[in-house]
Amino acid sequence: RQGRNDETGHATGSLTAMRQEAEHCTRCPLYRNATQTVFGEGPRNAPVVFVGEQPGDQEDLAGKPFVGPAGRMFDKAMEEAGLDRSRAYVTNAVKHFKFEPRGKRRLHKRPNAGEVRACRFWLEGELAAIKPDLVVALGATAAQALALQAVAVTKMRGPFSFPQHKGFITVHPSSLLRAPDEESRQLAYRAFLKDLKRIGDLAP
Ligand code: URA
Ligand code: SF4
Repeated sequence: RQGRNDETGHATGSLTAMRQEAEHCTRCPLYRNATQTVFGEGPRNAPVVFVGEQPGDQEDLAGKPFVGPAGRMFDKAMEEAGLDRSRAYVTNAVKHFKFEPRGKRRLHKRPNAGEVRACRFWLEGELAAIKPDLVVALGATAAQALALQAVAVTKMRGPFSFPQHKGFITVHPSSLLRAPDEESRQLAYRAFLKDLKRIGDLAP
């Protein structure tokens, strides 16, 4: 089963039912090499939904979103911004880990437009079930999935009207880990904190 799909064009039903159906998804080739589907997590009445790109190595093994290095960075920033992660629903644009084997390591590969489009079936299903006050795109892949077109994060950063949802675009937390030196890391982190505080004000 690929998930129920009525005239809406996205998954329908309860989050629990969708999560179970997504375990067997074969809508794009990414299910073949990944360990498991990593569905979103959080309360079904969450005021804010955060959308990342795709599970990373650790998420693929754990079956939970944002538990690796990017997730720890996200948790730290959420806490420092005074937002409660347990009240938020956290998910990804693409629900299987895409990677390239490199020796014993698995290197993250960015999902392509077709994979993002295929997996929107689940993302839109999650959003239809939760009906959040605000949807936050963490980085370009999430913004592309929600806007239905390519989005330049640095230009469009801030409040953004997605076709179906009131939204906000910010950077992906993993970009904070990639900053080249301590000073730019601090600047990037502070800008991210500022975004999270605005998000908290937009959807208390
Ligand atoms: N990066 C993401 O975009 N999502 C995760 O779940 C982990 C890392
Ligand atoms: Fe299905 Fe998404 Fe996995 Fe592709 S990445 S197989 S669309 S759950």
